Amino acid sequence: MAMTRSIEEAGRSFATPAAYTDETRLHEALALLRRESPVHRVDVPGYNPFWAITRHADVLEIERRNDLWLSAPRPVLRSAEVDAALDERRAKGTGLKTLVHIDDPEHRVLRAIGADWFRPKAMRALEVRVRELARRHVDRMAEHGGSCDFVQQVAVHYPLYVILSLLGLPESDFPRMLRLTQELFGQDDSRSRRGGAAQHHTSVLDDLFAYFRELTAARRATPTGDLASVIANARVDGEPLSDFEAASYYVIIATAGHDTTSSTIAGGLEALIRHPAELRRLREEPGLLPLAAEEMIRWVSPVKEFMRTAAADTHVNGTPIGKGESVLLSYPSANRDEDVFAEPFRFDAGRDPNRHLAFGSGVHYCLGAALARMEIRALFAELIPRLDGIELDGEPVWLATTFVGGLRSLPVRYRLR
Ligand code: HEM
Repeated sequence: MAMTRSIEEAGRSFATPAAYTDETRLHEALALLRRESPVHRVDVPGYNPFWAITRHADVLEIERRNDLWLSAPRPVLRSAEVDAALDERRAKGTGLKTLVHIDDPEHRVLRAIGADWFRPKAMRALEVRVRELARRHVDRMAEHGGSCDFVQQVAVHYPLYVILSLLGLPESDFPRMLRLTQELFGQDDSRSRRGGAAQHHTSVLDDLFAYFRELTAARRATPTGDLASVIANARVDGEPLSDFEAASYYVIIATAGHDTTSSTIAGGLEALIRHPAELRRLREEPGLLPLAAEEMIRWVSPVKEFMRTAAADTHVNGTPIGKGESVLLSYPSANRDEDVFAEPFRFDAGRDPNRHLAFGSGVHYCLGAALARMEIRALFAELIPRLDGIELDGEPVWLATTFVGGLRSLPVRYRLR
């Protein structure tokens, strides 16, 4: 009976933003579910019911079957209230319709518009700019004179600079974008709320749409050879994207490319501070950096979940799931699965192989994965050789969110050359 109760409690974590502020407890809950109830029904007040999927193999199989498991209409876990508000917007044609919200054949066509900008060849062209931005941000850390909140003063700025440079937005607009993307993703965190949850969500979306509508008009009038111009002037079946489709495209790129990477960089630094032998290893063997970046991504798993909805009656790992029911894919859990990772709770800067699912898998596999990897490597390639000692300067604080998150604050003390 006690066990049953704790499994039920573990299941409630997915719908409890505060559960993500205590990593130790969260991972205990996820490990329990993987062991005892890997396909677990969660039915809690305030949320439409769903099934939590915690094993690596099951997450992988669901992502592979994109004909059976659809992203629409519920790609992400939201409260029932926000689900209803979004359904209403969708019915009126004013809902967010980004790559993560849609399925084939429409998904394939829209994804192709931006895909070239994220391939390795395009990434190589961007590398000089990313390295320059990495240097600028490590310099900024040095300017803070030996202590700072690494999240607020370094990690949240750098990926946003990269992504907004790629889109082609002016630096003067960056602070506004920073605020809006944090409001959209940090929506569960009461510190940054605009009214109730549904009101907050639609109000932030309205602001983002307004900004991007102006951008589309400007880039249609004068294309400037950046990603924003490609999106503004894209044609599908000979027709330009609607304002909403174009705005949705910018929104997914600006938002998906930001908090995910900054959380990984901050969580990666925290891991190196807590595992000084791994930091020493990286200093002595800089060639390990690509593997270390991969391990940081697995370790942090900044995207906590995406969802899929069954297009037909089916089953997962023997559990029947009805048409129209939704599953939540727990990436942090899949990435600590004992069946796949040797010593999953050890941060191993040289982990190889590392078959983590932090970028998802299948047709929705993260479009920005190559960019994220390059950004993480560039930052640590700049930081590690210049670091002459670093330690925590207070307790790190995690963001309360069920979707994209990680550290909200990482106070550090250091000597930088
Ligand atoms: C999709 C993770 C960085 C753009 C996704 C998905 C995950 C993810 C889990 C959904 C995959 C699925 O459903 O199978 C991450 C992580 C990042 C990161 C962990 C950093 C460490 C970025 C960056 C960009 C980006 C830098 C830059 C633009 C996107 C886009 C999608 C996506 C556009 C939607 C793809 C689609 O649905 O076809 N990401 N991401 N992400 N990501 Fe990332």
